[in-house]
Amino acid sequence: MMHKHSDYMHWAKTQSRARFNLATSGVGSFPLKELPFDCTTLEINGENSYGYVPLKRAIASYSGVDPDCVVMAAGTSFANYLAMATILEPGDEVLIEHPAYGLLVDAARYITGNVKRFARREDDGYALDPAAVRQAISPRTKLVVLTNLHNPSSAEASDAALREVIDLARSVGARVLVDEVYLDAIYENTPQTSFLLGPEVVVTSSLTKVYGLSGIRCGWILAEPDLARAMWQLNNLFAATPVHPGELISVAAFEHLDIPRQKARRVVEADRKLLNEFLDRETGVSAVRTRWGTTSFVRLVRGDVDAFLDRLRAEFETSAVPGRFFEMPDHFRIGMGVNTEMFAEGLRRISAALAG
Ligand SMILES: Cc1ncc(COP(=O)(O)O)c(C=O)c1O
Repeated sequence: MMHKHSDYMHWAKTQSRARFNLATSGVGSFPLKELPFDCTTLEINGENSYGYVPLKRAIASYSGVDPDCVVMAAGTSFANYLAMATILEPGDEVLIEHPAYGLLVDAARYITGNVKRFARREDDGYALDPAAVRQAISPRTKLVVLTNLHNPSSAEASDAALREVIDLARSVGARVLVDEVYLDAIYENTPQTSFLLGPEVVVTSSLTKVYGLSGIRCGWILAEPDLARAMWQLNNLFAATPVHPGELISVAAFEHLDIPRQKARRVVEADRKLLNEFLDRETGVSAVRTRWGTTSFVRLVRGDVDAFLDRLRAEFETSAVPGRFFEMPDHFRIGMGVNTEMFAEGLRRISAALAG
């Protein structure tokens, strides 16, 4: 049987919400009224057979790439699927980081069924470790998949490690897919997209997680032009053309990206300060600290995480993401950047649950 579902996505859609919702991954929603955008320019239909050209150009210029390398997609979610489905054939070997964002594994299982893993170790700060990739890669590997920043931990991959992983992939004729949906949460000296590191790199991203613009589903893939053309062709089987009003708002968003980004930064940084204070005082949990990112992957030192999170929800009205969705069931993930009062109270309630 082909793998045709995502337990994590179903849980996120139906179970993750709570009064104190720490089960988020991106920043709070950015309202349209705060975006300089003339709503009278909104249109229903437009010329977008292979993507609306002004938006394609905006993504290309933001990424520092040629527009021929840009493929638009509904969010990073569909970007990841379209990229993998274009690159992989049934039975091809794909090497995915562990722990990983569940949808990457689900999509790869659906497409090829032949998923292998390489470790990002907690005791190494979840660093991208080329030695782990070297150990797991084989001449059958067609694609290496990783996130930067890493979901769930928010660890940043070093440029040197990325280059080594790309070299390893090249040596066996594989490509590297880097999901950069959280990369712009590095608010200072933001690295350039790793697409620029080599022709075998394919990047996915969107304006969702870091900008609070999830509703317009502005996602994209960066790929060398021949591969990008193949992705557009495969997309003809699925989405055909994008939602044009979303494209128009996305163009406006690219003109003013700093407004949602700076707004979110203030909340993320206030939340991170609270998170660090919480981790300093709590002995019942531990986590790799990171400077950037909107999620933290927390280890529960004693006890069963699912039972703990059930009690946290039932008695304390607080939610977090069970680590089992990242194949690390003794952890849970908490999210920053939505609302600092809610985050502070959520942490207080986690402390109360740990104490009880
Ligand atoms: C690593 C990663 N990629 C992609 C997505 C989906 O992003 P989008 O909302 O742009 O579809 C998520 C959402 O949590 C994610 O964590």
